[in-house]
Amino acid sequence: ILKSVILIGGPSKGTRFRPLSLDMPKPLFPIAGLPVIQYHVEACSKVENLVEILIIGSYPASDLSQFIQEMTSTYNITVRYLQEFTPLGTAGGLYHFRDQIRSGGPTYFFVMNGDVCADFSLQEIVEYHKEKQALLTAMATEATKQQSLNYGCMVLDMNGGVAHYVEKPSTFVSTLINCGIYLASLDIFQTMTDVFNAGQNQENLMQFNGNGKDPAHISLEQDILTRLAGTGRLFALPVLRWWSQVKTAGSAIHANCHYLTLFKTQHPNHLTSAADGPCQIIGDVYIHPSATVHSTTVLGPNVSIGPNAVIAAGVRIKESIILANAHIQAHSIILHSIVGKSSYVGEWARIEGTPCDPNPDKPFVKMENLPLFNANGKLNPSITILGTSVRLAAEKIVLNSIVLPHKELTRNFKNEIIL
Ligand code: GDD
Ligand code: GTP
Repeated sequence: ILKSVILIGGPSKGTRFRPLSLDMPKPLFPIAGLPVIQYHVEACSKVENLVEILIIGSYPASDLSQFIQEMTSTYNITVRYLQEFTPLGTAGGLYHFRDQIRSGGPTYFFVMNGDVCADFSLQEIVEYHKEKQALLTAMATEATKQQSLNYGCMVLDMNGGVAHYVEKPSTFVSTLINCGIYLASLDIFQTMTDVFNAGQNQENLMQFNGNGKDPAHISLEQDILTRLAGTGRLFALPVLRWWSQVKTAGSAIHANCHYLTLFKTQHPNHLTSAADGPCQIIGDVYIHPSATVHSTTVLGPNVSIGPNAVIAAGVRIKESIILANAHIQAHSIILHSIVGKSSYVGEWARIEGTPCDPNPDKPFVKMENLPLFNANGKLNPSITILGTSVRLAAEKIVLNSIVLPHKELTRNFKNEIIL
């Protein structure tokens, strides 16, 4: 049998996703109408003999309980949340909960970073892992030289084994990057035990923990992958399908577009059809069944409308995510933006962001997950985000701005963070 672990971090992570992650854990943010990690769960549910999914993170258990119930009933698979008392790193949590992972005797288990989006091909990884008799197999993809520096970089040997692994190198190593999706054999816990014991000895010698991290902190990348490189037991499977991280709100808009495209083949019923939708639909659009959309609205391409949202007459929305309970009043326009839960957008208002889509003509480019500010202290042009319960007055324009929750906007804003 197989199991899967999804690493979701905790409230101290996902800072680039604020203000959207202020009142909802980032792993539960809806992309194309479904929580980020629901795509992980769904991919796992399709793997033969995969019996249990363990979600490891440091969010309070109550944040996840409803999601877990929904996943269990939707996919008919056991899903459990294991809460870390403190962030233990990408392998520290695996090690801490090793008995839970090993119970029931799985042969292999997946480890999935919760903050990636992809056309997952997990079954392919299982076949490859078996064929190579690997200890650990990492899904890999290509990036540009420049972008590779933000990821784990790998150099392969003739046999597909990882000869070198460098996590976020400061100078160029390889364009083959780690996607944060792995399959491990149970012996990986032996490697972790070695690392853990080495760390404890170090600890005793030094009497204090120099890096400020918990002594049980283990990084899968720095402590395990780097160590396994060159041993012939770490393999990488390069894949060409779509893959991307979700770090910034801009990357959520990008992922929204890709998941909507995937729906065409994988979930046609999630897409609103142009022929019998509630309004004019252009390209791929998701509308939650409980949303109310006026017949003179024009939506798309790449728009997701959340539960109980209300979209009034003459509204135009393109390349955007509208979250639950938002009210968009008549004749407003929303482009390249995310409108937070329970926000209110007045009539004839305009909300516009600047897309940060990778250039589709360059091979292998990944989404740039730019920080909020550039080196000159200026806000990088980005999509516009309205936090939860923001109210925008009628006929006002908000351009390339980030608005924190509960703000009342009564004038125009451009390139601002509204605190
Ligand atoms: N449970 C738990 N505990 N999860 C954690 C912790 C922790 O202490 N720290 C990070 N995570 C989760 C995050 O929520 C995320 O899903 C994943 O582990 C990796 O997060 P980061 O540590 O922020 O790494 P990264 O995303 O910058 O880089 C990793 O992913 C890239 C691909 O997206 C690395 O694995 C890179 O090598 C890789 O290229
Ligand atoms: P391209 O697709 O790049 O050619 O854009 P466009 O010239 O169609 O205009 P834009 O992307 O700015 O707007 C998309 C749609 O929204 C168009 O159909 C416009 O007619 C419509 N639109 C533009 N501004 C407004 C507005 O202020 N209010 C409303 N309700 N619709 C608008």
